[in-house]
Amino acid sequence: MLTLGIEGTAHTVGVGIVDENANVLANELEMYRPPEGGIHPREAANHHAERVTPVIRKALEAAGVSIRDIGLVSFSRGPGLGPCLRTVATAARSLSMSLNVPLLGVNHCIAHLEIGIASTGCDDPVLLYASGGNTQVIALAEGRYRIFGETLDIGIGNMFDKLGRELGLGYYAGPAIERLALESDRYHELPYSVKGMDVAFSGIMTAAVALRRKGVPLPDICHSVQETCFAMLTEVTERAMAHIGKDQLLLGGGVVQNKRLREMARMMAEERGAEIFVPEPKLCIDNGAMIAWTGKVMHDAGIRSGIDGSRVDQRFRTDEVEVTWRRSAGIG
Ligand code: FE2
Repeated sequence: MLTLGIEGTAHTVGVGIVDENANVLANELEMYRPPEGGIHPREAANHHAERVTPVIRKALEAAGVSIRDIGLVSFSRGPGLGPCLRTVATAARSLSMSLNVPLLGVNHCIAHLEIGIASTGCDDPVLLYASGGNTQVIALAEGRYRIFGETLDIGIGNMFDKLGRELGLGYYAGPAIERLALESDRYHELPYSVKGMDVAFSGIMTAAVALRRKGVPLPDICHSVQETCFAMLTEVTERAMAHIGKDQLLLGGGVVQNKRLREMARMMAEERGAEIFVPEPKLCIDNGAMIAWTGKVMHDAGIRSGIDGSRVDQRFRTDEVEVTWRRSAGIG
């Protein structure tokens, strides 16, 4: 049986097709790029509404299968931007009804974890999930994926984008910040905001903008921002690993493409004698394959939602989901 999954929590509309053995047959996506400024939920949703059908077609073509080969449809139920979630849920509902196959809504953050597990071969990791809208440290404990630490304000990728706008680096500024950071090793003090197991980023952004106004060169600012934010993420991840006694670290989310973040995470893991796992880039970012695969493992575990249970949830927490499928694999 093949599963088709549709992702659409934020800027990306993605369609993945997976088989029984976690082989990704297709993983197509299109990203909404705001003409200027930040992501506008309604405009991103319009983009998804326009592009979801072509992306489904592209995925079927890439997989070399017919729509009639699909036996299960899954979609991202949340967390995310309401208009985007509703658009993608509508597409998934219509597809499941017209094909007369089951429908399953999945948690987007859990999907990052499940595709990471399936694609890298780890089995019980702590996930550092760093993306635009989300920044969390998640691990399985007592039958649920629990959040051990998270951002108290905005996702790290969002902060990079806002900072990029202030500094004139354009939108989706992560790669520009990473490139500029390589040009400097001068560190300027920024607020190191770790509160318990949580982190906060907006104060760092304000302080970085203030540095710029004082004439501090852009590369210095980018270097200092990266060092501060990534050290914070690495610290809370390490504490979560120590606290729950896990020795596998999994990275997920668009921001883990950043080589400096990977380097810091790798150093921390090595010092602890832990293993680190990083999925290939197309499975790290928001994508449909992770939604398809998570739908498939949940369906195999007997979880059903149907049309009635397919209402989207903008604040869908990972620990709301009882992770029965890991139990049957002997974990959790
Ligand atoms: Fe994500």
